[in-house]
Amino acid sequence: MIVGIPKEIMSGEARVAATPETVKKFIQDGMTVLVEAGAGVKSFYYDEQYKEAGAEMVSDAEHLYQRAGLILKVKEPLFNDNVGKHEVEMMHKGQYLVTFIHPASPVNHKMVKQLAEQGVIGLTLDSIPRISRAQNMDALTSMSTCAGYKGIIMAADDLSVFMPQMFTAVGMLKPANVLVIGTGVAGLQALATAKRLGAVTYAMDIRPAANEQAKSLGAKIIETGVPEELAVGKGGYAQKLPDGWLAKEREVLAGVLKDMDIVFCSALIPGKVAPILITEEMVESMKNGAVIVDISIDQGGNCAVTPAGKKEMFHNVMVQGIKNIPGLIPTSSTWMFSQNVYNLVKYLSKDGQVVLDLNDEIVRSILVTHNGEIVHEGAREAMGL
Ligand code: NAI
Repeated sequence: MIVGIPKEIMSGEARVAATPETVKKFIQDGMTVLVEAGAGVKSFYYDEQYKEAGAEMVSDAEHLYQRAGLILKVKEPLFNDNVGKHEVEMMHKGQYLVTFIHPASPVNHKMVKQLAEQGVIGLTLDSIPRISRAQNMDALTSMSTCAGYKGIIMAADDLSVFMPQMFTAVGMLKPANVLVIGTGVAGLQALATAKRLGAVTYAMDIRPAANEQAKSLGAKIIETGVPEELAVGKGGYAQKLPDGWLAKEREVLAGVLKDMDIVFCSALIPGKVAPILITEEMVESMKNGAVIVDISIDQGGNCAVTPAGKKEMFHNVMVQGIKNIPGLIPTSSTWMFSQNVYNLVKYLSKDGQVVLDLNDEIVRSILVTHNGEIVHEGAREAMGL
């Protein structure tokens, strides 16, 4: 099988779907690997290294799409300005595509329909089931780890005070207080990173299991009082709270925000808009020079004033709504992503060829388009099919 690694074309995207290390592994597994020239440059993996690992470098994206039987990408297919064609147009019948397709998202519906019409077999990384045997394929978790770590570094960088306690000749400076709202994968990594930087950490989540994990990382828990049966839904995930409970949660938050130096927002409900937990008035009550990093911005944000894709000062508080944070730590995020993708392809293939077992839970969850049809449950529901 020929594996194709195109250069990512989304503006500002620094990641790539393979490293020289995974190229070597694909080749050992009997595959041929084509890498578009310059694909790894922004994540500091260079053409010579891919070549040394055994990849064939291809300068023309269209040529790569024509020859490959399996395309590995980071972002969903988009219009390629250099070629003057949409990436889907460059794909062909029977070709496999592995990437974050986000098929339920309305902006991607047209593209997903095109994938189906062209007979492309689309497999989406955002639907890897959260079961133990799929953990090493779970790129979403890897990217959340990157966002949690880098998000806190970005907050610390904008903070007007030290993170750790400082004993100096002129006196003692207190450590910063960091509150993480929503302690899933990203939030827990944010807590661990803030702790390593010397901050005093606080955590708030509506799932008791998440609070236990935050506590084990040394965070003080801010109790929301939300009953477990309201907070936790199918599969142990958080579910949308009734408005009354959200208002109560905001009240609890209003009582603690004035003491916080950094607030890291990562509260999400799978497949839904993020709950608004911080109002503008609450931002106004915060310390001058404090920082809010809202990584839930792709789902609308947890703070009412978070500016999408940038940072802005509101009432002397820096509010960050930077998107694609994993792309800001490109060597590590590419390394993790490419390991996840390699593990998935290895799992899906036999003797160097992808062979889909449609009875397998992982395959069933990630399959988006097959035999000309859209088969992904979430996408079908979102499209009203
Ligand atoms: P997520 O990104 O969907 O949500 C982040 C957090 O926000 C969750 O902990 C959720 O409880 C919290 N949240 C939602 N509404 C909230 C509200 N109103 N106030 C405060 N917090 C709120 O979650 P993520 O990171 O995708 O993972 C959630 C859980 O899934 C993990 O804690 C873990 O138990 C499990 N998981 C399992 C994996 C596996 O077995 N392979 C891999 C990754 C996660």
